[in-house]
Amino acid sequence: MSTPLPGLPARVTVYEVGPRDGLQNESGVIPVEVKAEFIRQLLAAGHRAVEATSFVSPTWVPQLADAAELLEAVGTAPEGVRMPVLVPNEKGLQRALAAGVREIAVFGSATETFARKNLNRSVAESMEMFRPVVDRARAEGLAVRGYLSMCFGDPWEGSVDPQVVAGHARTLVAMGVTELSLGDTIGVATPGQVVALLTCLGQQDISVDQLAVHFHDTYGQALSNTLVALQHGITVVDASAGGLGGCPYAKSATGNLATEDLLWQLHGLGIETGVDLEALTRTSVWMADQLGRPSPSRAVQALAKDLATPPVAAPVEAPIEELQ
Ligand code: HMG
Ligand code: MG
Repeated sequence: MSTPLPGLPARVTVYEVGPRDGLQNESGVIPVEVKAEFIRQLLAAGHRAVEATSFVSPTWVPQLADAAELLEAVGTAPEGVRMPVLVPNEKGLQRALAAGVREIAVFGSATETFARKNLNRSVAESMEMFRPVVDRARAEGLAVRGYLSMCFGDPWEGSVDPQVVAGHARTLVAMGVTELSLGDTIGVATPGQVVALLTCLGQQDISVDQLAVHFHDTYGQALSNTLVALQHGITVVDASAGGLGGCPYAKSATGNLATEDLLWQLHGLGIETGVDLEALTRTSVWMADQLGRPSPSRAVQALAKDLATPPVAAPVEAPIEELQ
Protein backbone atom coordinates (compact mmCIF):
# COMPACT_ATOMS: atom_id res chain seq x y z
CA MET A 1 0.00 0.00 0.00
CA SER A 2 1.51 3.33 -0.98
CA THR A 3 0.45 6.92 -0.41
CA PRO A 4 1.95 9.40 -2.87
CA LEU A 5 2.98 12.96 -2.11
CA PRO A 6 2.64 15.63 -4.77
CA GLY A 7 5.77 16.97 -6.47
CA LEU A 8 7.79 13.76 -6.50
CA PRO A 9 9.08 11.78 -9.50
CA ALA A 10 7.20 8.66 -10.62
CA ARG A 11 10.44 6.70 -10.88
CA VAL A 12 13.86 6.92 -9.23
CA THR A 13 17.11 5.29 -10.30
CA VAL A 14 18.75 3.76 -7.27
CA TYR A 15 22.50 3.77 -7.89
CA GLU A 16 23.90 0.97 -5.73
CA VAL A 17 27.35 1.66 -4.29
CA GLY A 18 27.61 -1.23 -1.78
CA PRO A 19 30.29 -3.26 -3.58
CA ARG A 20 32.51 -0.17 -3.97
CA ASP A 21 31.77 2.43 -1.28
CA GLY A 22 30.71 -0.32 1.11
CA LEU A 23 33.51 -2.80 0.69
CA GLN A 24 36.36 -0.27 0.26
CA ASN A 25 36.14 0.36 3.98
CA GLU A 26 36.28 -3.19 5.33
CA SER A 27 39.25 -3.95 7.55
CA GLY A 28 39.35 -7.65 6.65
CA VAL A 29 39.91 -9.17 3.24
CA ILE A 30 36.72 -10.24 1.52
CA PRO A 31 37.18 -13.11 -0.93
CA VAL A 32 36.62 -12.12 -4.54
CA GLU A 33 33.97 -14.83 -4.92
CA VAL A 34 31.93 -13.28 -2.08
CA LYS A 35 32.12 -9.88 -3.80
CA ALA A 36 31.06 -11.42 -7.11
CA GLU A 37 28.13 -13.20 -5.47
CA PHE A 38 27.13 -9.90 -3.81
CA ILE A 39 26.98 -8.17 -7.21
CA ARG A 40 25.07 -11.06 -8.77
CA GLN A 41 22.49 -10.92 -6.00
CA LEU A 42 22.15 -7.11 -6.35
CA LEU A 43 21.46 -7.53 -10.06
CA ALA A 44 19.03 -10.37 -9.39
CA ALA A 45 17.15 -8.09 -6.95
CA GLY A 46 16.49 -5.74 -9.87
CA HIS A 47 19.26 -3.16 -9.58
CA ARG A 48 20.12 -1.53 -12.90
CA ALA A 49 23.09 0.55 -11.67
CA VAL A 50 25.71 -1.16 -9.51
CA GLU A 51 29.08 0.46 -8.88
CA ALA A 52 31.26 -2.62 -8.82
CA THR A 53 34.75 -1.64 -7.64
CA SER A 54 37.65 0.82 -8.13
CA PHE A 55 40.73 0.80 -10.33
CA VAL A 56 42.74 2.89 -7.86
CA SER A 57 46.17 2.36 -6.38
CA PRO A 58 46.21 -0.99 -4.54
CA THR A 59 48.49 0.61 -1.96
CA TRP A 60 45.86 3.24 -1.22
CA VAL A 61 42.86 0.89 -1.21
CA PRO A 62 44.03 -2.72 -0.81
CA GLN A 63 40.42 -3.81 -0.22
CA LEU A 64 39.70 -3.33 -3.95
CA ALA A 65 43.02 -4.53 -5.36
CA ASP A 66 41.17 -7.48 -6.92
CA ALA A 67 39.12 -5.24 -9.27
CA ALA A 68 40.11 -6.99 -12.53
CA GLU A 69 39.61 -10.45 -11.06
CA LEU A 70 36.21 -9.40 -9.69
CA LEU A 71 34.95 -8.10 -13.03
CA GLU A 72 36.11 -11.28 -14.70
CA ALA A 73 34.16 -13.32 -12.17
CA VAL A 74 31.00 -11.20 -12.59
CA GLY A 75 31.16 -11.02 -16.39
CA THR A 76 29.95 -8.18 -18.61
CA ALA A 77 26.99 -6.18 -17.42
CA PRO A 78 23.79 -7.22 -19.20
CA GLU A 79 22.43 -4.74 -21.79
CA GLY A 80 20.81 -1.77 -20.07
CA VAL A 81 22.63 -2.36 -16.80
CA ARG A 82 25.21 0.18 -15.61
CA MET A 83 28.21 -1.27 -13.82
CA PRO A 84 30.62 1.65 -13.34
CA VAL A 85 33.99 1.55 -11.60
CA LEU A 86 35.98 4.34 -9.95
CA VAL A 87 38.99 5.54 -11.92
CA PRO A 88 41.25 8.41 -10.76
CA ASN A 89 43.92 8.51 -13.46
CA GLU A 90 45.11 7.20 -16.82
CA LYS A 91 46.59 4.08 -15.29
CA GLY A 92 43.20 3.28 -13.77
CA LEU A 93 41.49 3.91 -17.09
CA GLN A 94 43.84 1.54 -18.90
CA ARG A 95 43.06 -1.18 -16.36
CA ALA A 96 39.32 -0.49 -16.61
CA LEU A 97 39.33 -0.60 -20.43
CA ALA A 98 41.29 -3.86 -20.37
CA ALA A 99 38.55 -5.27 -18.12
CA GLY A 100 35.85 -4.29 -20.64
CA VAL A 101 34.24 -1.58 -18.47
CA ARG A 102 31.59 0.62 -20.19
CA GLU A 103 31.25 3.32 -17.52
CA ILE A 104 33.74 4.92 -15.16
CA ALA A 105 33.52 7.48 -12.38
CA VAL A 106 36.13 10.11 -11.58
CA PHE A 107 36.00 11.44 -8.05
CA GLY A 108 36.95 14.98 -7.13
CA SER A 109 36.71 16.89 -3.89
CA ALA A 110 35.09 20.22 -3.10
CA THR A 111 37.72 20.85 -0.41
CA GLU A 112 41.49 21.09 -0.58
CA THR A 113 42.21 18.97 2.50
CA PHE A 114 40.20 16.00 1.31
CA ALA A 115 41.64 16.27 -2.22
CA ARG A 116 45.09 16.00 -0.65
CA LYS A 117 44.16 13.10 1.63
CA ASN A 118 42.20 11.11 -0.96
CA LEU A 119 44.10 11.82 -4.17
CA ASN A 120 47.46 13.19 -3.00
CA ARG A 121 46.81 16.36 -4.99
CA SER A 122 45.20 19.81 -4.76
CA VAL A 123 41.70 20.20 -6.16
CA ALA A 124 43.07 21.88 -9.32
CA GLU A 125 45.75 19.18 -9.78
CA SER A 126 43.20 16.42 -9.38
CA MET A 127 40.93 18.06 -11.99
CA GLU A 128 43.93 18.11 -14.36
CA MET A 129 44.51 14.41 -13.57
CA PHE A 130 40.88 13.66 -14.55
CA ARG A 131 40.83 15.68 -17.78
CA PRO A 132 42.70 13.19 -20.04
CA VAL A 133 40.82 10.34 -18.38
CA VAL A 134 37.43 11.87 -19.20
CA ASP A 135 38.57 12.81 -22.74
CA ARG A 136 39.79 9.34 -23.56
CA ALA A 137 36.88 7.57 -21.88
CA ARG A 138 34.35 9.67 -23.81
CA ALA A 139 36.28 9.11 -27.05
CA GLU A 140 36.04 5.34 -26.37
CA GLY A 141 32.27 5.72 -25.98
CA LEU A 142 32.17 5.26 -22.21
CA ALA A 143 29.77 7.07 -19.90
CA VAL A 144 31.60 9.04 -17.20
CA ARG A 145 30.13 9.86 -13.81
CA GLY A 146 31.79 12.58 -11.77
CA TYR A 147 31.70 12.73 -8.01
CA LEU A 148 32.28 15.74 -5.83
CA SER A 149 32.99 14.84 -2.22
CA MET A 150 32.59 17.03 0.89
CA CYS A 151 29.86 19.12 -0.74
CA PHE A 152 28.34 20.18 2.58
CA GLY A 153 30.93 19.78 5.31
CA ASP A 154 34.49 18.58 5.74
CA PRO A 155 35.99 17.17 8.95
CA TRP A 156 39.09 19.35 8.60
CA GLU A 157 37.68 22.52 7.02
CA GLY A 158 34.17 22.72 8.48
CA SER A 159 31.20 23.89 6.42
CA VAL A 160 31.58 24.21 2.68
CA ASP A 161 30.33 27.16 0.63
CA PRO A 162 27.82 26.12 -2.09
CA GLN A 163 29.46 28.62 -4.47
CA VAL A 164 32.78 26.76 -4.12
CA VAL A 165 31.04 23.45 -4.81
CA ALA A 166 29.30 24.98 -7.84
CA GLY A 167 32.65 26.16 -9.25
CA HIS A 168 34.10 22.64 -9.11
CA ALA A 169 30.84 21.16 -10.41
CA ARG A 170 31.07 23.43 -13.46
CA THR A 171 34.64 22.27 -14.09
CA LEU A 172 33.56 18.61 -14.10
CA VAL A 173 30.50 19.25 -16.26
CA ALA A 174 32.58 21.29 -18.74
CA MET A 175 35.07 18.40 -18.82
CA GLY A 176 32.27 16.16 -20.11
CA VAL A 177 30.98 14.08 -17.22
CA THR A 178 27.60 12.60 -18.06
CA GLU A 179 26.30 12.59 -14.47
CA LEU A 180 27.50 14.42 -11.36
CA SER A 181 26.98 12.95 -7.91
CA LEU A 182 27.00 15.36 -4.96
CA GLY A 183 28.66 13.66 -1.99
CA ASP A 184 27.95 14.27 1.66
CA THR A 185 30.98 12.15 2.45
CA ILE A 186 30.73 12.44 6.23
CA GLY A 187 26.95 12.64 6.48
CA VAL A 188 26.65 16.06 8.13
CA ALA A 189 24.22 17.80 5.75
CA THR A 190 20.72 18.84 6.73
CA PRO A 191 17.84 19.45 4.27
CA GLY A 192 18.21 23.25 4.07
CA GLN A 193 21.80 22.84 2.89
CA VAL A 194 20.72 20.38 0.21
CA VAL A 195 18.15 22.81 -1.15
CA ALA A 196 20.67 25.68 -0.97
CA LEU A 197 23.22 23.71 -3.00
CA LEU A 198 20.71 22.52 -5.63
CA THR A 199 19.44 26.10 -5.97
CA CYS A 200 22.97 27.45 -6.34
CA LEU A 201 23.81 24.81 -8.98
CA GLY A 202 20.59 25.63 -10.86
CA GLN A 203 21.59 29.30 -10.91
CA GLN A 204 24.87 28.24 -12.52
CA ASP A 205 23.07 26.30 -15.27
CA ILE A 206 23.66 22.86 -13.83
CA SER A 207 20.30 21.19 -14.13
CA VAL A 208 18.96 18.54 -11.76
CA ASP A 209 18.78 16.16 -14.74
CA GLN A 210 22.57 15.98 -14.66
CA LEU A 211 22.78 15.37 -10.90
CA ALA A 212 22.66 12.53 -8.41
CA VAL A 213 22.85 12.70 -4.61
CA HIS A 214 25.16 10.62 -2.44
CA PHE A 215 24.39 10.84 1.26
CA HIS A 216 26.23 9.07 4.04
CA ASP A 217 24.05 8.57 7.09
CA THR A 218 26.32 9.47 10.01
CA TYR A 219 23.77 11.76 11.69
CA GLY A 220 20.62 9.99 10.45
CA GLN A 221 19.85 12.76 7.96
CA ALA A 222 20.22 10.86 4.69
CA LEU A 223 16.53 10.08 4.14
CA SER A 224 15.38 13.63 4.94
CA ASN A 225 18.04 14.97 2.63
CA THR A 226 16.94 12.56 -0.09
CA LEU A 227 13.30 13.57 0.21
CA VAL A 228 14.04 17.28 -0.26
CA ALA A 229 16.36 16.45 -3.15
CA LEU A 230 13.51 14.51 -4.83
CA GLN A 231 11.19 17.45 -4.21
CA HIS A 232 13.72 19.59 -6.07
CA GLY A 233 13.84 17.34 -9.12
CA ILE A 234 16.61 14.80 -8.38
CA THR A 235 15.84 11.31 -9.76
CA VAL A 236 19.13 9.45 -9.19
CA VAL A 237 19.95 8.49 -5.61
CA ASP A 238 23.07 6.65 -4.44
CA ALA A 239 22.66 4.09 -1.68
CA SER A 240 24.41 1.07 -0.29
CA ALA A 241 22.81 -2.31 0.41
CA GLY A 242 22.52 -2.82 4.15
CA GLY A 243 24.10 0.62 4.78
CA LEU A 244 27.62 -0.70 4.24
CA GLY A 245 30.39 1.76 3.81
CA GLY A 246 32.44 4.80 4.53
CA CYS A 247 35.57 6.30 3.07
CA PRO A 248 38.99 5.16 4.28
CA TYR A 249 40.40 8.67 3.74
CA ALA A 250 37.60 10.69 5.38
CA LYS A 251 37.68 10.94 9.14
CA SER A 252 34.22 10.08 10.59
CA ALA A 253 32.63 8.84 7.36
CA THR A 254 30.16 6.05 8.16
CA GLY A 255 28.01 4.00 5.85
CA ASN A 256 25.91 5.33 3.00
CA LEU A 257 22.17 5.70 3.13
CA ALA A 258 21.01 2.07 3.28
CA THR A 259 19.31 1.01 0.06
CA GLU A 260 16.58 -0.83 2.00
CA ASP A 261 15.74 2.30 4.06
CA LEU A 262 15.56 4.25 0.81
CA LEU A 263 13.34 1.64 -0.88
CA TRP A 264 10.98 1.56 2.10
CA GLN A 265 10.45 5.31 1.68
CA LEU A 266 10.29 5.37 -2.12
CA HIS A 267 7.92 2.42 -2.40
CA GLY A 268 5.78 3.85 0.42
CA LEU A 269 5.47 7.00 -1.68
CA GLY A 270 4.47 4.94 -4.72
CA ILE A 271 7.75 5.71 -6.53
CA GLU A 272 8.97 2.93 -8.81
CA THR A 273 12.54 1.67 -8.52
CA GLY A 274 12.46 -1.77 -10.10
CA VAL A 275 14.28 -3.17 -7.07
CA ASP A 276 12.74 -5.92 -4.94
CA LEU A 277 13.05 -4.89 -1.30
CA GLU A 278 12.64 -8.39 0.09
CA ALA A 279 15.25 -9.88 -2.23
CA LEU A 280 17.66 -7.07 -1.38
CA THR A 281 17.10 -7.55 2.34
CA ARG A 282 17.97 -11.24 1.99
CA THR A 283 21.19 -10.18 0.25
CA SER A 284 22.09 -7.76 3.03
CA VAL A 285 21.37 -10.39 5.69
CA TRP A 286 23.62 -12.80 3.76
CA MET A 287 26.33 -10.11 3.42
CA ALA A 288 26.11 -9.28 7.13
CA ASP A 289 26.81 -12.97 7.79
CA GLN A 290 29.84 -12.84 5.52
CA LEU A 291 31.15 -9.74 7.34
CA GLY A 292 30.32 -11.12 10.77
CA ARG A 293 28.27 -8.15 11.99
CA PRO A 294 24.64 -7.06 11.66
CA SER A 295 23.53 -4.50 9.10
CA PRO A 296 23.01 -1.01 10.57
CA SER A 297 20.00 -0.49 8.26
CA ARG A 298 16.76 0.00 10.21
CA ALA A 299 14.72 -1.50 7.36
CA VAL A 300 16.96 -4.58 7.16
CA GLN A 301 16.70 -5.09 10.92
CA ALA A 302 12.90 -4.79 10.85
CA LEU A 303 12.34 -6.86 7.70
CA ALA A 304 14.84 -9.59 8.47
CA LYS A 305 12.64 -10.76 11.36
CA ASP A 306 9.72 -11.31 8.97
CA LEU A 307 11.62 -13.06 6.23
CA ALA A 308 10.63 -16.65 5.87
CA THR A 309 13.52 -18.66 7.21
CA PRO A 310 14.66 -21.45 4.89
CA PRO A 311 12.67 -24.60 5.60
CA VAL A 312 14.36 -26.59 8.33
CA ALA A 313 14.70 -30.26 7.48
CA ALA A 314 12.40 -32.37 9.66
CA PRO A 315 14.45 -34.01 12.42
CA VAL A 316 15.32 -37.53 11.50
CA GLU A 317 13.78 -39.82 14.02
CA ALA A 318 16.37 -42.03 15.56
CA PRO A 319 15.54 -45.72 15.51
CA ILE A 320 14.09 -46.75 18.85
CA GLU A 321 17.01 -49.06 19.60
CA GLU A 322 19.50 -46.17 19.36
CA LEU A 323 17.58 -44.22 21.99
CA GLN A 324 17.75 -46.97 24.53
P1 HMG B 1 49.94 8.74 -5.84
O1 HMG B 1 50.70 7.98 -4.79
O2 HMG B 1 50.11 10.22 -5.93
O3 HMG B 1 50.10 8.06 -7.28
O4 HMG B 1 48.39 8.42 -5.60
P2 HMG B 1 51.28 8.05 -8.31
O5 HMG B 1 50.70 8.42 -9.63
O6 HMG B 1 52.47 8.81 -7.78
O7 HMG B 1 51.65 6.49 -8.35
C1 HMG B 1 52.17 5.80 -7.23
C2 HMG B 1 52.13 4.30 -7.47
O8 HMG B 1 50.77 3.85 -7.56
C3 HMG B 1 52.80 3.89 -8.79
O9 HMG B 1 53.31 2.57 -8.60
C4 HMG B 1 51.64 3.81 -9.74
O10 HMG B 1 51.87 2.95 -10.83
C5 HMG B 1 50.55 3.24 -8.84
P3 HMG B 1 54.91 2.33 -8.39
O11 HMG B 1 55.55 2.95 -9.58
O12 HMG B 1 55.22 3.05 -7.10
O13 HMG B 1 54.97 0.84 -8.29
N1 HMG B 1 49.22 3.63 -9.32
C6 HMG B 1 48.24 2.76 -9.64
N2 HMG B 1 48.17 1.42 -9.61
C7 HMG B 1 47.01 0.85 -10.04
N3 HMG B 1 45.93 1.56 -10.45
C8 HMG B 1 45.97 2.90 -10.47
C9 HMG B 1 47.17 3.55 -10.06
N4 HMG B 1 47.52 4.84 -9.97
C10 HMG B 1 48.78 4.87 -9.52
N5 HMG B 1 44.90 3.59 -10.89
C11 HMG B 1 46.22 8.07 -6.56
C12 HMG B 1 47.40 9.00 -6.43
C13 HMG B 1 45.09 8.86 -7.19
C14 HMG B 1 46.60 6.89 -7.44
C15 HMG B 1 45.83 7.57 -5.13
O14 HMG B 1 45.66 8.69 -4.31
C16 HMG B 1 44.58 6.76 -5.11
O15 HMG B 1 44.52 5.67 -5.65
N6 HMG B 1 43.52 7.26 -4.42
C17 HMG B 1 42.24 6.58 -4.35
C18 HMG B 1 41.60 6.80 -3.00
C19 HMG B 1 40.22 6.17 -2.98
O16 HMG B 1 39.91 5.27 -3.73
N7 HMG B 1 39.34 6.67 -2.06
C20 HMG B 1 38.01 6.18 -1.91
C21 HMG B 1 37.10 6.56 -3.02
S1 HMG B 1 36.48 8.21 -2.92
C22 HMG B 1 35.06 8.08 -1.93
O17 HMG B 1 34.86 7.09 -1.30
C23 HMG B 1 34.07 9.22 -1.94
C24 HMG B 1 32.80 8.91 -2.74
O18 HMG B 1 32.13 7.78 -2.22
C25 HMG B 1 31.84 10.11 -2.73
C26 HMG B 1 31.56 10.65 -1.32
O19 HMG B 1 31.19 9.88 -0.42
O20 HMG B 1 31.73 11.85 -1.17
C27 HMG B 1 33.14 8.63 -4.22
MG1 MG C 1 30.81 7.78 -0.50
